[in-house]
Order: sequence, then C-alpha cells, then structure tokens
Amino acid sequence: MNDLVQAAREARERAHAPFSKFKVGAAIEDENGRVFTGCNIENATYGLTICAERVAVFKAISEGAGKLRRVAVVADTDRLTPPCGACRQILWEFCGDAELTLANLEGRRETMTMREIFPRPFDASFL
Ligand code: THU
Repeated sequence: MNDLVQAAREARERAHAPFSKFKVGAAIEDENGRVFTGCNIENATYGLTICAERVAVFKAISEGAGKLRRVAVVADTDRLTPPCGACRQILWEFCGDAELTLANLEGRRETMTMREIFPRPFDASFL
C-alpha cells in the first residue's frame, strides 16, 4: 500500500486547484498491479471541477485497466480527506468493495473498505 499512497502523493503535486488551493491526489491499482493516478482539476466555472478520484477512475477505464482493487487518496489535512459523495458513487460503480486508504502528508493513514464508507449504494443490481 505504501507505493499506492506514494503514487497518490505525487499525483497530488499535479493538482490544478487555483481556486480552492485544496490539492488532492488519488491512485488506483488494478488486479495486475497497474497503477492509475489522478489529481483534482478545477475550472473557472467551478461546477466543471473534477475530483482526483474520478480522474483516476476514468483514466483507468479509458486505458483498459483490469479489475480495480485498491484506492489511495492523499490530501494535506489533519482529518484524513474522504472521497466526496459523487466520487463514492463512481468508485463503487467501477471498483466495487475495494480497499480504500486515506492518507495525509504527515504519513497518517487509515484503511477501510468502500462498503464501510458507502453503505447501501444504488448500483446496476437495481436496474
Ligand atoms: N476534492 C477532490 O479532488 N477529492 C476529494 O476527495 C475532496 C475534494 C477536490 C475538489 C476541489 O477541487 C477541491 O478538492 C475542493 O473541494
């Protein structure tokens, strides 16, 4: 998991966050050990901003990733920054009950499952 947190940390450095100044990095590992990273990318309209987690998921899918198994999210906060609601929905759709590690720049980290932070999800099983 160290490597995945490190990859998220490096991705965070590439965040485009001139409005909030709140930089986030994410990294996702697939079943074959391939790693896909993302950072938040803000927009002057604000509403078109996309979170680091969704950038990482969409990159993974568009680049032909295998089953997505582990996710790491890094931000510079004392309280570890969790994925927003929209990202939880997308992470659930594409990563299922993956392992999720939240970390900060001081090295604090906590690992949980997607199910724990996203109970009772709506997904394709209802359709
Ligand atoms: N943000 C993320 O990229 N991921 C999160 O988990 C929380 C929020 C971004 C969106 C926006 O660019 C900035 O952080 C402040 O909300």
